[in-house]
Amino acid sequence: MLKWKDDYLLGIKIIDEQHKRLFEISDRAFRLVVEKNDKERNKKFFDILKELISYTDYHFEFEENYMKSKNYKHFEEHKKLHSEFKKLIGNYELDINDENISEITTKVAKLLVEWLINHIMVQDKLYIEQ
Ligand SMILES: [Fe+2]
Repeated sequence: MLKWKDDYLLGIKIIDEQHKRLFEISDRAFRLVVEKNDKERNKKFFDILKELISYTDYHFEFEENYMKSKNYKHFEEHKKLHSEFKKLIGNYELDINDENISEITTKVAKLLVEWLINHIMVQDKLYIEQ
């Protein structure tokens, strides 16, 4: 389970709401890992993956504009982290097929758990605290 905790709050309401939404989408992906591997689950996963890609695009752009407006000194590095994540997720979407979907579901869930919390707690906190 990928449960939101108030420890992840940055104190900027709109960004916090977006992060909560990312958790909510990620949690749905995460829950699919233990579901029976069938066509229905695969379809659900594919839809969630697409939703995740479009929402991260939206959120990262929003965050990047915010950082720019604050003249965040590590803007380029932060943007690079966003690009790397987008590339990883995008590649999974491109690679997915009927044979590997189960494996990719697990990989994406793992990536989300490792990346999301760390990114918010470490990287995003930095631009807030600047
Ligand atoms: Fe970020």
